Order: sequence, then C-alpha cells, then structure tokens
Amino acid sequence: MQNNSRFLGQTDIRIPELGIGTWQWGDRMMWDYGKGGYTDADIRAVFDAALAADIRFFDTAEVYGLGRSETLLGQFVRESREDAIVATKFMPFPWRLHRSRLMAALKHSLKRLGLPHVDLYQVHFPLPPLPAEHWAESLADAVEAGLTRAVGVSNFSAAQMGRAFNTLAARNVPLASNQIEYSLLHREPERNGQLQTARDLGITIIAYSPLAKGILTGKYTPENPPPGARGRIYNREKLQKVQPLIALMKEIGQAHGDKSPAQVALNWTICKETVPIPGAKNARQLQSNLGAIGWRLTDDEIAALDTLSAPLN
Ligand SMILES: NC(=O)c1ccc[n+]([C@@H]2O[C@H](COP(=O)([O-])OP(=O)(O)OC[C@H]3O[C@@H](n4cnc5c(N)ncnc54)[C@H](OP(=O)(O)O)[C@@H]3O)[C@@H](O)[C@H]2O)c1
Repeated sequence: MQNNSRFLGQTDIRIPELGIGTWQWGDRMMWDYGKGGYTDADIRAVFDAALAADIRFFDTAEVYGLGRSETLLGQFVRESREDAIVATKFMPFPWRLHRSRLMAALKHSLKRLGLPHVDLYQVHFPLPPLPAEHWAESLADAVEAGLTRAVGVSNFSAAQMGRAFNTLAARNVPLASNQIEYSLLHREPERNGQLQTARDLGITIIAYSPLAKGILTGKYTPENPPPGARGRIYNREKLQKVQPLIALMKEIGQAHGDKSPAQVALNWTICKETVPIPGAKNARQLQSNLGAIGWRLTDDEIAALDTLSAPLN
C-alpha cells in the first residue's frame, strides 16, 4: 500500500490521503459502543493498525462520546509515543457567546487528550447566533496562543467558508480545511459551491461519512437494514435504490484486484480531491478501509459512478 501524503490546506502539515474518524470511540447515540458491539480493545486495535500502516491523522471532537473519544485518542497517542496528527472540534452551542469560549473549550479538549496542543482545531457547525467571522477570530487567537498548529471549519457553506477565510487571512492564518459530508450518496458539495470554493482558496475538504455511515459497504440491504438511527435515515426504499450502485462498485472493484464497494467508495472521494475520514469499529474494518489508498479509479469508472449515483442525490 502506497500512502501519498498531501499538505493540509496551505499549511506545512502533511496528512495522508485518508484519515481516521473517531466518532465511534465512545458514542452510544448513533453507534453501539459498549453495548456488545465493540469495546475499547477493538478501538485500540484500530489505532495500532492505523499507525502500523503509517496513517496518523485522527479526527475527533469534544462532543464525541461526551469527551470519551478525545480521552481514548489522547491515551493511545501518549502510550504509543509516536507522532500523530490530531484534529478536534469546538461546538458553538448557542450559550457559548463570548469569543474566549472557544479557547476555554480547546483547553478542556487538550486536558482530555493530555497533549500540549492539537494539529487542527475546527468549528464543528456554523450554529447561530454568531457569524463565521466571530469564531474565525477565536480560531486565530488559538493559533497565536500556540494551542493548535492549524485551524479549520466544519459544515460551513461556501459563503461561510469564504468569510472565515477572509477573517483569518487578516490575521495571517490560513483556513486549512472544511470538514463536510461527502460521498457517492451525498454529492451536494459539488452543486452548492463548497468543493469549488475550497479549490479556489486552497482549503482541504475533509470528507465525513464517506461510506454513508456503512451503506456504501454494500452490507446493508432492504432485507438487512442498519440498526438504530441509521435504519431511519436509510429506510427500505432508499436501500433498494442503492443496490444498482453497489453492484457497479463491485464490478469496478473486481477490475482493481477485488477491491470492495467500501474501498471503491473511499477511492472515489479521494479522486474528487478530498480526504475521507471513515470511521471504523474494529481493526478488520480499518484494514479494509486502508485498501482504498495507493491506487486510483480510472476517469471512465469515475464517470460511470457519477452517472449512476446522480439520481440518488
Ligand atoms: N463534522 C461533522 O459534523 C461530522 C459528522 C459525522 C461524522 N464526522 C466524522 O467523520 C467520521 C466518519 O463518518 P461516519 O462515522 O459518520 O461514517 P462512515 O465513515 O461513512 O461509516 C462508518 C461506519 O461504517 C461501518 N464500516 C466502516 N468501515 C467498514 C468496513 N470496511 N466494512 C464494513 N463496515 C464498515 C461501521 O459501522 P457498522 O459496522 O455499524 O455498519 C462504521 O461505524 C466520523 O467518525 C467523524 O470523525 C464528522
């Protein structure tokens, strides 16, 4: 497996072409952490397998598992004594109004992580009432305080991204990334200007839910829907409509040495110049996801996937 690293936006931080999502590490609302599904030992195995493959970019957030995700990630990084690129996020809850609240939250994240600084600090959502510029100023404060090497946003529209970019630029800080939902089943960023604006401004798009929360692995069907909240998002009808796309992904995967639909789905996001951060619950899933890198779909295959996924979007 060849890992082609790239720069994170216009920073000097190098990231692999795929990162590791850690929402699963402690979450019980969407995922079945601790309910017999998977344990801390499984999560540790995910971390170790990623490092062994030299994939060192981990995305967490203060809200994942109510802090558990950060605590586990920090513990693993410290115990491994290896370098890792740690990204976490600030949630601008509506009661967090003062500019200093971001720095206070970042200090709490650093305490849970047990690290002196993070590599990327992101505003999780552009929640009202405060505008993009307000939190961009706070992000610049965090860089100046040496608590993060780079800053990013998440779920920001093209316009909000541009405004955060300008505010940060006035403070000589590049906006490194916008983390947004992007997959074969969620191609809205191609139409709403997010991908284009990021390209124009040199901002890296970090693609979350790149497997559409497991749907693009092909293991969920109308007869075998995903459990819990995911079953409501991807109901029987939606799962039925996805099956021809899964079949095409299988066919395309075979031409690349038996790649799985999940590997094809992740490779497609990489071909679209984004950095996917799939979540994995165990080392088996992680290893499988790593098989998405070191090769590329052909232009014809990308076009075929684009055509078949278009009506699903
Ligand atoms: N910024 C934001 O607002 C935001 C929002 C959502 C996510 N994120 C970030 O993005 C990351 C990834 O997104 P996501 O977790 O929503 O969805 P995802 O990566 O599309 O899907 C992850 C799920 O798919 C299944 N899976 C993963 N790899 C597999 C494989 N190789 N074979 C079979 N099943 C596999 C697992 O669930 P099952 O085994 O249960 O099917 C896993 O929990 C998160 O961890 C988080 O860091 C950010």
